[in-house]
Amino acid sequence: MWLFVQLSDTPTATAVSFTLNGHGVEVHDDRGTSLLDALREQLQCRSVKDGCSPQGQCGCCTVWVDGAARVACVTPVRRVAGRSVTTVEGLGPELETRWVDAFLAAGASQCGFCTPGIMLRLAALEHGNRPLTRHAVESALLAHLCRCTGWQSIVEAGCAALGIGGTEGGGTTPVQPVPVADQLLTQWRAQLEGATSQRSGPDVVLGGGGFADDCAPAGCLVQLGAAEAAPVRGLDAARAGAKKVQGRHSTMPLAYPVAIPDGDWALTLQTTWVEPAYVEPDASWCLPGAGPATPLANGGAFGGKCRSPVPELARALAAQFQLPVRVLWCREDVVRFGPKRPPVALGLRADGTGIVRMGRTPGSPDLRDVRARLGAIAPGVAVEEVDIPGPPVGNELRGAGWVEVVAAQHALRAFGGRRPPSGEGPGRGQADIRVPGRGRAAVRLEREGGPLGRGTVTVEVWAGEILDPVTLRSYVLGAVHQALGLVWSEGIAVDAVGEPLDLTVRSFGILAARDMPQVDVVLHAEDRWPVNGTDAVLAATAAAAWIADGAPPQWPTRRGGAGRRVATVSHPGQQEEST
Ligand code: FES
Ligand code: FES
Repeated sequence: MWLFVQLSDTPTATAVSFTLNGHGVEVHDDRGTSLLDALREQLQCRSVKDGCSPQGQCGCCTVWVDGAARVACVTPVRRVAGRSVTTVEGLGPELETRWVDAFLAAGASQCGFCTPGIMLRLAALEHGNRPLTRHAVESALLAHLCRCTGWQSIVEAGCAALGIGGTEGGGTTPVQPVPVADQLLTQWRAQLEGATSQRSGPDVVLGGGGFADDCAPAGCLVQLGAAEAAPVRGLDAARAGAKKVQGRHSTMPLAYPVAIPDGDWALTLQTTWVEPAYVEPDASWCLPGAGPATPLANGGAFGGKCRSPVPELARALAAQFQLPVRVLWCREDVVRFGPKRPPVALGLRADGTGIVRMGRTPGSPDLRDVRARLGAIAPGVAVEEVDIPGPPVGNELRGAGWVEVVAAQHALRAFGGRRPPSGEGPGRGQADIRVPGRGRAAVRLEREGGPLGRGTVTVEVWAGEILDPVTLRSYVLGAVHQALGLVWSEGIAVDAVGEPLDLTVRSFGILAARDMPQVDVVLHAEDRWPVNGTDAVLAATAAAAWIADGAPPQWPTRRGGAGRRVATVSHPGQQEEST
C-alpha cells in the first residue's frame, strides 16, 4: 500500500519515498526537512515525539532505520530514501506485547512521552552483535532522557524484555503477562504523586498519552516559541522563521546568585539555577472561540507548567487570526522562558532555626506559598525574598525551598549541631522525614568510592493506602533520582544579567541510568486515606545524600565534566525584601 502526501508549494521541494512500518510512503523535502518532521507533520505519525529538536539529545524521536535505532530529528529525510523506517506501530504483535508488558510490569512509563523512543532503542539491541547485559541496557539509555521514572524501572523493563535475568539483569525472564491494573487506583496514586491527572496503560506506553501537540488538528497556523513573529502555516515555515539553532552547552561556571544571610551560622547552603527538565516541551492549540488544549495532558511537569503561557497565547492568536492555531516551544524556549527552581541561600543555628533567602526574578510569583509550606514544616526558619535577574522561578516546583531547609536541618542533627570540618563525607547518610499532611519516608544511602553510581539507597515509604504498588514504586524511584541530581549534579549556567547559557538537554546535569545507585523500595501499607508519599522521599533522599557527602556548602556537590567549574557569581545591585 502506498500513501502519498501532497508535495509542498515550495519550488525547491523534492519527493522522497521510503517504507514506513511496511507501507510505501512519499513525502516532500523542503531543503533539509528532518525525518522527524516528515513523520509527525506529513504522515501524522505522532508516536514519534519532539523533546528537543534540533538538538538530537533527548532520544524521544528515536525510530529504526533498517532495523537500527536512529534519532529522527537530526536525520534529513532524504537519507532514508528507499530505506525502511519503523516506529512503535510497526513492531509487530509479539514484540509490541513483550515490550509493553515489560514496561507496564516495571512501572517504567509515567507520562509516557519518552517511552516509544526508549522502547525502540532497547528493542534494537536484539539486532546487534553485542552481548545483552544490564550494562548494555544502561549504555543504550545514554542517548535518552526520562525525567519521570528515575531509570531503574526502565532498566528492569529492558532486562525483562531482553531476557537478561538474575543478578545481571535484576529483572525476570521471560516477561510474564501483566495483570490488568485497576485504572482508577493507578490514576489516583499517580495524581497524588504528580499533582495532576495521569493515565497509564498500553496506549500510553506506545505514545498515546494525549499530548497537546499530538492532538492538534492538521492545517493549523503554527507559532514556534514566544510571540516574536506572526504564526505561519506549517511547522517547516515556523522553524525557518524562528531561525532556531541547536542551542548550546556552555563551559561557564554555575552561579550562586543569592548571598548567605549575615549571621554566625552552624550550617549554610547555597544552591544554583536548576532546570526542571520536563521532557515534553510546552504546547497547546486552540480553535477560534474555543478553549485551548492543556499542556498538562498526561503529567504535571513537576509543577513546571502550572503557569505556562502557551494556552493563552494559542487562544489569543486563534481569536486574532480566526483560524486554528498551534503554539509550541522548542527546548531552547523551555530553558529561556520556563520556570527554574529558585536559587536559595540559607543559614541555620545549631538548634535548626535560621533564615532562608530565596531568589525571585522579575515577573515571577511571590513566595506566599513557599512561606506557608515552610511555616508548617520548619516554623523556626524565616523566609527572605531576594530580587535577582534571571529566568522565571517556579515556587510551585516540587519541593522548592522547603526541601533544602529540611535537608539542612537533618544534616545539622546528623553532625551534632555544626558543619563537619571540610573534607570527605562519611559516605553514608540517613534521614527519616514526615511531611505535614502527607507521607513519611526513611532513606538510607551507602556510597562506595569511584563512579557516582556505586552504592545503594534503601527507601521505606508510608503514604496511607498504597492503591497500586507498581505506580507508587515508580514515583518513589523518580523522586530518588531527582533528589540525587539536585544534591549531586544538576545546574545550568546563568550569566550576571540573568541569561541562561546552557540551553541543551545534556547541559542540565541530569544523572544517567549508569550514574544511579541501586534503589531498594519498601512500601508500608497503612490503614488510612492515601496521601502523597514522594515529597517525603525527595526531602529524605536529598538529606541522606548531602549528609553522605559531609554537607559541603553548595549544591551540586559533585558537578564535574570537562571545562565545568563550580564557582560563585554574584550579581551587582541585588535588592532584598525580608519578612
Ligand atoms: S527530539 Fe530528537 S533527540 Fe530530542
Ligand atoms: S515517563 Fe519518561 S519522561 Fe515521563
